[in-house]
Amino acid sequence: MKLSGNTILITGGSSGIGLEMSKRFIQNNNKVIICGRSQEKLNAAKEQLPQLEIVPCDLSDKKQCRALTNWIMEKHPDLNVLINNAAVVNKVNFLGTDDILEMAEQETETNFLAPIRLIHFLYPQLQKNKDSHLINITTGLVYTPRVAYPFYNATKAALHSFTQMFREQSKNTGVSVVEVMFPAVKTPWHKGNPPKIAIATDRAVEEMLTGLEKGIPEIRVGRTKLLYSISRLAPKFAFNKVNSLADG
Ligand SMILES: NC(=O)c1ccc[n+]([C@@H]2O[C@H](COP(=O)([O-])OP(=O)(O)OC[C@H]3O[C@@H](n4cnc5c(N)ncnc54)[C@H](OP(=O)(O)O)[C@@H]3O)[C@@H](O)[C@H]2O)c1
Repeated sequence: MKLSGNTILITGGSSGIGLEMSKRFIQNNNKVIICGRSQEKLNAAKEQLPQLEIVPCDLSDKKQCRALTNWIMEKHPDLNVLINNAAVVNKVNFLGTDDILEMAEQETETNFLAPIRLIHFLYPQLQKNKDSHLINITTGLVYTPRVAYPFYNATKAALHSFTQMFREQSKNTGVSVVEVMFPAVKTPWHKGNPPKIAIATDRAVEEMLTGLEKGIPEIRVGRTKLLYSISRLAPKFAFNKVNSLADG
């Protein structure tokens, strides 16, 4: 992928890894559009990066996904890069949590169904444009679940599986399908308490960009490379390792 001259939609571009991607992509591209639920966070991102185009959208709502994609197709018909980055996580016990089913629905809608909807709605446009890329953001936890997250591992593992399938089904369409697996990264995601091994956002995104430039279809950032290998060779050891990592 060339890292310049693109028109890019980054979901969840108002915080953390998405915001860092916005900073990097804004430099040499035609347009970077970001979406998120909080207008306040979007405004703060635009204050930092005035060239950004910001759009409020709750991706867990199918109608809002449709409205966003209609708006993109009208205003930015040259969109050639879709980055499905927005996600949520609930760190709770499955047993004994009253609104556990609402959490399951929210995570499934945001982390798995929203990317599928955006791909469905925007794919014809990506296919029409030259040098198009679909980039799904997942995590090393697609290989080994972390016990603290009842649904996050599963929703991302589902997106991982979908991405592998879709890369094959879409191989003659001219759109490249990329997955980027991040390790723990220091972002607001961790609510001020990131795991000790978490890396900085600029380092994480730098490695992603290197992988994109090289045309790697599954970009394993930082320690996700090691986790991938260990989870194949010694799955129980990988499971214990991932779950012995302390927060903060
Ligand atoms: N940080 C890590 O350690 C880590 C590790 C591996 C993978 N990842 C992945 O990296 C991606 C980015 O994570 P991050 O750490 O940068 O998280 P973050 O700082 O919490 O940012 C998440 C972004 O997603 C947006 N978002 C959440 N729900 C949304 C919805 N329903 N509709 C639209 N936008 C929504 C948020 O904006 P609003 O709240 O305003 O909606 C925010 O802009 C995620 O896919 C995550 O799974 C992160």
